[in-house]
Order: sequence, then C-alpha cells, then structure tokens
Amino acid sequence: MGVVRQLRQISADDAGVDTAFRADVHAGLSQAQKAVPARWFYDTTGSALFEDITALPEYYPTRSETDLLKRHAGEMAAAIGPGRAVVELGSGSSTKTPLLLEAITPSAYVPVDISGDFLRDSAAALAARFPGLPIYPVEADFTQRVALPREICPLPKLGFFPGSTIGNMVARTAVDLLRSWREALGDGSLLLIGIDRIKDIGILERAYDDPAGVTAAFNLNLLDRINRELGGDIPVDNFIHRAVWNDVHARIEMHLVAACDMDFTVDGRAYHMAKGETIHSENSHKYGPRDANLLLRAGGWTPLATWDDADPAFALILAQATEFRSAP
Ligand code: AVI
Repeated sequence: MGVVRQLRQISADDAGVDTAFRADVHAGLSQAQKAVPARWFYDTTGSALFEDITALPEYYPTRSETDLLKRHAGEMAAAIGPGRAVVELGSGSSTKTPLLLEAITPSAYVPVDISGDFLRDSAAALAARFPGLPIYPVEADFTQRVALPREICPLPKLGFFPGSTIGNMVARTAVDLLRSWREALGDGSLLLIGIDRIKDIGILERAYDDPAGVTAAFNLNLLDRINRELGGDIPVDNFIHRAVWNDVHARIEMHLVAACDMDFTVDGRAYHMAKGETIHSENSHKYGPRDANLLLRAGGWTPLATWDDADPAFALILAQATEFRSAP
C-alpha cells in the first residue's frame, strides 16, 4: 500500500459551514448582477454530478485530455523526468492522475482539493494502485495560499493542473493563481496544465447544456446547497439553467435564470429576483495557442511543450518556472 498521510482541514464556523461560502453567497447575491463563485459547486452532490458530466458524450474536455495523456505519455515523461513530487491542484476523483503517475516515476503525490470526501476516497484508491508512493492529501481551496507538506520541500516538483480548471477563472485571477503556485512550487519546478481551446460555438454550448440535463442539475445544485447549508428557502424549481458563449470574453457562461419574480431568504437575509434576472454561476474561458502561452508567461511560467492534437481540440502544456531576470 502507498502511504496516505494526514488530511488537513479547511475552516468552518460553529454550525460547521465553511465561512467563506457564507460570505461569498451574501456578497454575490447583493450585487446588481448576482453571482456565486463556481468553486461552491463542489459539495459531495456537486462533485458526483461533475463526475457524471465528464462521462457525457457532449462534454469533450475530459475525453480529449485523457486521449492526449494516453497518446503522449512517453514524450511527457521524457520532458518531465523521474523523481518529482506531483502536486495536483483540484484533484477531485483523480481519474487522469494514474496515467501521469504511471508514466513519470514520481517521488510523492500531493492531491489538493476542497472536497474532503473525494480526496479521502481517491487518495486511498491511488495508494492501493501505487504501492510505496508517499501520498500527502491536503484538504484546501487551491485558489488560496496552500502550505505544502514539509516532507516534499526538498523534492523537485511538478504542478499538475488538468481539466482546464484555469478556464474557470477570469484572467486576473488566473494570473494570480499561476504566480502564487509559481512561488509555492519554487525554482526549478514544472507545471503540466490542461487548457481548453476556442472552437465551434455549437460544440461548446452543447458541452455545457447537455440534453440529459446533467449540467443543469449540477448548476441547480448550487441553490440546493445554499438552502441546505445556509438555511435558505430559495424556490429552486423556479430557476432554469442557461449556458451561453460570450465572444468578447471568449468564454462559456453558466447562469441560473429566474423563471418568475420571487422573494427568498438565506440565513434570514431577504433577497428579491425579477423574472429573467440571473445568478451568474460559472465562467469557462477558452484559449487559442498564443493566448494560452501569454497567460502562462504572465503567471511566471515559460511554456516548454504543447500537446494539442485531440479532437475536439484541447491542450496540455508543459511549462517551467520562469527564472527572474531584470533585463527585457
Ligand atoms: C471544472 N471545470 C473545468 C468544468 C468546466 O468545463 O468549466 C466545470 C463544468 N461546468 C460545467 N460543466 C463542467
């Protein structure tokens, strides 16, 4: 068996509710354009629904990325080299991780995820599959500063950020995150990151509004979660899922649309929504080759290699921590 070390905990208030969730929901529902950050999708139900999304025929990113990992594992391993501690940001159920771990001979694996249940299960499954590989799960929001286990301090590191989760951040937040992980992983580190490409709008919109309604359920679960955890009485049945391409920002936006005028409370605080008003719940930015490289450079990472011959198009980019230099 691989070794699974101690799991770290995120902060909760006396009622056991993540304090940041409470604050984000009230702040977001008080804005002119209501919005709740997409990271709050991922409670146990939301994480399970996301797993279902990844198996949908319309949701190509998981299939395309897995295909790239399978076909180019040898080239990736040659470029990465053995002996690195793999730090996976937002590991979820870690379904693609074995493909990478099998290819590169790592020295440790550190899955970082906000969903403790998923983290525990996937760490146990990987420990059984990779005997002798030290595994240090960290239950944390990887968008915040995360302290890495001291056991991996002396090891060379590979950040693994698959799934195009970087696309869920606006450019400024994405750059902040890349810079902060550049500092956390340190000089000499590498980053293997999945980035979804801009493509035909029909393919994009179907991927985020599937006919089986799984993505709709995933979006609507956010309201159920608010009701469950924050004592809300949002009439969930009065909301409709919408996914739409925003060409100016090169992103798919998900919204929860009010089907009628309504009043509700969360935590005893009153909110009103008019028919047609929306809660903006997710952005999923897509990048062309130059955009993606620019994003990485702005975040302190120098692209070394790109694998992007999947269909529908998706990219896995290997980048190295940029050395500081003062000259142009
Ligand atoms: C996790 N993330 C990269 C997914 C995406 O494609 O933006 C989340 C998702 N939302 C709807 N479907 C999938």
